[in-house]
Amino acid sequence: MKVSVKVPATTANIGPGFDCLGMALPLYNTVTIEETVLPGTGVEINVLANEDITDEFSLEHIPMDENSIVYKAVELLYNSIGQTPSELKITIHSEIPIARGLGSSASVIVGGLIAANELLGRPADEAALLSIATEVEGHPDNVTPAIVGGLVISSYEDDGGIVYRKLNWPDEWLITVCVPEYELATEISRSVLPKEVPLQDAVFNAQRMGMFVQAVNTKDEELMRLALKDKLHQPYRLKLVPGLEKISENLKHEESVIGCVLSGAGPAILVISKKNNLDKVKAIVKETWNELNINAQLYTFPVEQNGAKAVGVV
Ligand code: HSE
Repeated sequence: MKVSVKVPATTANIGPGFDCLGMALPLYNTVTIEETVLPGTGVEINVLANEDITDEFSLEHIPMDENSIVYKAVELLYNSIGQTPSELKITIHSEIPIARGLGSSASVIVGGLIAANELLGRPADEAALLSIATEVEGHPDNVTPAIVGGLVISSYEDDGGIVYRKLNWPDEWLITVCVPEYELATEISRSVLPKEVPLQDAVFNAQRMGMFVQAVNTKDEELMRLALKDKLHQPYRLKLVPGLEKISENLKHEESVIGCVLSGAGPAILVISKKNNLDKVKAIVKETWNELNINAQLYTFPVEQNGAKAVGVV
């Protein structure tokens, strides 16, 4: 039997929602798991990249052995029903840029998990899949929208469960994902974060998170301009993302720009804007990075409302 699962990219944090807000985007990885008949072949993992947006260097960051995150996710699922994965061939067709803050690791975890769940006759329900995926990833903000689609707020509870709710992103607000050519591993981007933060910074983000929910629910643009601020992760990561500070500064005077935030752990940047003046906004981002000799790809995306789904079971 062979199962393929298509999983969307995700952007996380979105300003104030460090480790809890995430949104699915229409770029996809496809993970295929095949049961092989040859005994003793073990688990083989292959990654096939879309040449346009990934490069050979990027692929070195996906570990190709059984320790890889995709294998870990599959193994946890098998273990949850008292089994161990044996002869499996896992193939990842990668369209999501790697190590850019667009959920490429969450997508392979989720893809592997859902494909294995199909192979096994669906022993895990959505709650179990969310929980296993978060255990492997460490936080739920990318894996939850990768599984359920849309804009999602989620929490990782003490019992290992995930509580999530979907929010509606207003169609009027464009999301432009600005992806620089350089990479930033999430591990490095998390290593610069402090273990503790000042109480007033925690209060600042709690205020913005409440504002964010109200702003999307009521399409309140003025509130959203305040809500997209953050003091929990971005200030510490600025030094790892050349251009972010300058891009934010250069966009500050553009009336159509509602906010500019780091996508996940970076280095991609999200620009949230109204529909007018998009070309100018994109030109400002490109020019600012150009001045630092950094090339970038910019995509203006709608929210992907669908989460991961099996696209082929044979
Ligand atoms: N919330 C995570 C972070 C997303 O900012 O590190 C990246 O995995």
